[in-house]
Amino acid sequence: MDLEEYIEKHIDREPDHLHALYRRTHLTRLYARMCSGHSQGRLLAMLSKMIRPAKVLELGTFTGYSALCIAEGIADGGELHTVEIDDEAEDELLELFASAPVGDRIRLHIGDALDIIPTLGDGWDMVFIDANKRNYCDYYELVLPRVRPGGYILADNTLWDGKVVDGEAHDPQTEGILAFNDLIAGDERVEKVILPIRDGMTIIRKK
Ligand SMILES: C[S@@+](CC[C@H](N)C(=O)[O-])C[C@H]1O[C@@H](n2cnc3c(N)ncnc32)[C@H](O)[C@@H]1O
Repeated sequence: MDLEEYIEKHIDREPDHLHALYRRTHLTRLYARMCSGHSQGRLLAMLSKMIRPAKVLELGTFTGYSALCIAEGIADGGELHTVEIDDEAEDELLELFASAPVGDRIRLHIGDALDIIPTLGDGWDMVFIDANKRNYCDYYELVLPRVRPGGYILADNTLWDGKVVDGEAHDPQTEGILAFNDLIAGDERVEKVILPIRDGMTIIRKK
């Protein structure tokens, strides 16, 4: 048994509808490993239940797994706005959110996050950044002024399979993550920690 399996056996079980979604993602999608999955999904749900956000923004919907997890913790009457650039995913996502538990709290926006963020207003309690790794710095600079003081930004994949420390990787995605991590480390406007869960998740709190 590896550590991930051990963790999964000792945390809340994965809800049935999310287990089915995870399986479906792996049967139908080429880059299925982008899907959050059991342990990260339960972490997102737990953080959302701790924060109890009324307004959540997610960048990078993929097959909807993380959106459904975060939506579990949204305050009564609250909403999660999720942005996905792949318009071919739209029908399937709308069908999923119409039928899944807490899916009625989710609003889907199809398009480039960089174009859509400015159209969605401000006052975000919680933002989950999980779209194009090359653009993490741009997402952050667009989002931070729109997060309320005391609000949270979670950024996924910030350890990028360990490539952040191997010194050999110079592809655009690794460069994007390295620049983002340096930007956050030096940003006095926020408090920050990195959780080494799965591919690394940075939790940022706006002062
Ligand atoms: C890592 S996956 C998201 C996984 C999902 N949040 C989860 O945890 O299950 C990244 C997604 O971001 C989308 N994406 C990439 N660039 C984007 C952009 N500029 N704007 C919006 N979505 C984008 C991709 O199409 C992909 O579906």
